[in-house]
Amino acid sequence: MPHTIPIRAASDRDASDICAIHNAQGVATTASYRLSPGTAAERAAWLARHRREGFPVLVALDGDERVIGFAAYERFRELPGYDPTVEHSVYTAPEHEHEGIGRALMTELIGLARRAGLHAMVGVVDADNKASLAFHEHLGFTICGVLPQVGRKFDRWLDTAVLVRLLDEPPTGAGERRPRS
Ligand SMILES: CC(C)(COP(=O)(O)OP(=O)(O)OC[C@H]1O[C@@H](n2cnc3c(N)ncnc32)[C@H](O)[C@@H]1OP(=O)(O)O)[C@@H](O)C(=O)NCCC(=O)NCCS
Repeated sequence: MPHTIPIRAASDRDASDICAIHNAQGVATTASYRLSPGTAAERAAWLARHRREGFPVLVALDGDERVIGFAAYERFRELPGYDPTVEHSVYTAPEHEHEGIGRALMTELIGLARRAGLHAMVGVVDADNKASLAFHEHLGFTICGVLPQVGRKFDRWLDTAVLVRLLDEPPTGAGERRPRS
């Protein structure tokens, strides 16, 4: 029987753990184009904004109920014609990569998006982040294009891949179970 990873909605007290994971996995690398470490106060404001706008933030927990990963989505772009689409982010703590945590978080997040009646989920991923690209393809995302040199970090230009997962289509990725026919 596969091990079940506990996942719950994030609360205000998770702000510093989420911040620490993102600083380690995103700011220290090109996984995120943020240039300097974030603070717990900024994450608390981010959590409050998601709550106000009705967008979920999920956290994954270890056996001692410590936060070891998070995933969230929010509005893709401002104009109302984009309302059926959201953009997500997902990060696993460095010492817990490859344990199925990202998959568990994204499976739950995609389920919430479907139940909210959303149509598409967009991932914006550094084009050199092979692990994240493979992870997203595994979950049924399609790489739709690469925007060349739209980012700059560590004194070099960065290419950005845009991935889309249509939510009302049957799963195509190996990471989600297909419905029985
Ligand atoms: C990318 C990330 C979110 C994946 O989460 P994870 O918990 O490590 O991934 P999982 O263990 O759930 O992997 C699920 C599947 O994704 C694929 N995958 C994950 N990591 C991979 C890697 N390094 N290389 C190739 N495939 C990978 C595999 O198909 C895997 O399934 P398998 O274990 O049956 O082979 C996580 O590693 C992470 O936070 N990395 C650093 C920050 C980052 O890049 N975040 C994404 C920003 S866009």
